[in-house]
Amino acid sequence: MSAPDFDDRMLSLGLARVAEQAAIASARLVGRGDEKAADQAAVNAMREQLNRLDISGVVVIGEGERDEAPMLFIGEEVGTGKGPAVDIALDPLEGTTLTAKDMPNALTVIAMGPRGSMLHAPDVYMDKLAIGPGYPEGIVDLDMPPATRVSALATAKGCDPSDITVCILERPRHEAMIAEVRSTGAAIRLITDGDVAGVMHCAEADVTGIDMYMGQGGAPEGVLAAAALKCMGGQIQGRLLFRDDDEKGRAEKAGIADLDRIYARDDMVAGDVIFAATGVTGGSLLPGIKRDVGWLTTETLLMRSKTGSVRRMRYRTPVPQG
Ligand code: FBP
Repeated sequence: MSAPDFDDRMLSLGLARVAEQAAIASARLVGRGDEKAADQAAVNAMREQLNRLDISGVVVIGEGERDEAPMLFIGEEVGTGKGPAVDIALDPLEGTTLTAKDMPNALTVIAMGPRGSMLHAPDVYMDKLAIGPGYPEGIVDLDMPPATRVSALATAKGCDPSDITVCILERPRHEAMIAEVRSTGAAIRLITDGDVAGVMHCAEADVTGIDMYMGQGGAPEGVLAAAALKCMGGQIQGRLLFRDDDEKGRAEKAGIADLDRIYARDDMVAGDVIFAATGVTGGSLLPGIKRDVGWLTTETLLMRSKTGSVRRMRYRTPVPQG
């Protein structure tokens, strides 16, 4: 018997529901100062919904290693087991602190592709560089100093470096990078968390005002961002960073031999992919969950790389009881 097709058209609708339900579960925890409870609510809901899908899914990017994460751990099998064999990358709540503090751009995020198509990135940091669609391949790269990246992008865009805006996570480790980018005259949008959204902003520069993302964040978030850009267009490069032998061991366990490799977007997400994200708190890409008395409204972005289709789905539902 041949393997069933990866019918991503119908599956994508199910995937949107998975992202939606995770957001709805975390809604009552927005602005309540409890990151862990918000994350747990999203994890529970995402897992429950995933297990209703007719897929033979394996979580390749998840909540952590099996011994650290009780649910949605790397390697966990999800779905009814009746459908196609797929890889799943997820972050049930990308921006737990943003959610707890009711700050912009917290999302629930999930991507799905055929089995074996996604990089099994260990839970370490990744150095990332991303730009939006419409530029020649490789006009910026991770080996360039930050100021050179800005001037190369400005030349390609036909503008002055001072017309470029770069998004960077505000962290002490980025101080030198921030100073160097500022020395070019470029603007910097500093974000406190949420670099999946940070990278996605580059794909809609006209809406978000962000041309380029750079800096070190989570490797799992790097793969999710690559999935998003595969659907939206745009380039991302990532290089894994290891702080100690334990982290190198994680890479080995994930089957990664070349620790210095630079991964391009299609190295991280090699096949067709579907991507869904629901806004938890409002941001420039997606509105957050809207609460009216007795009702919740969400907006979900659903994209398929195969066709380049982008759906925005608004969903209004009674506030769940209990
Ligand atoms: P969480 O949602 O798990 O809190 O992650 C948020 C995040 O900001 C990611 O978007 C980013 O990749 C990572 O944390 C950065 O890590 P760190 O906070 O250690 O700099």
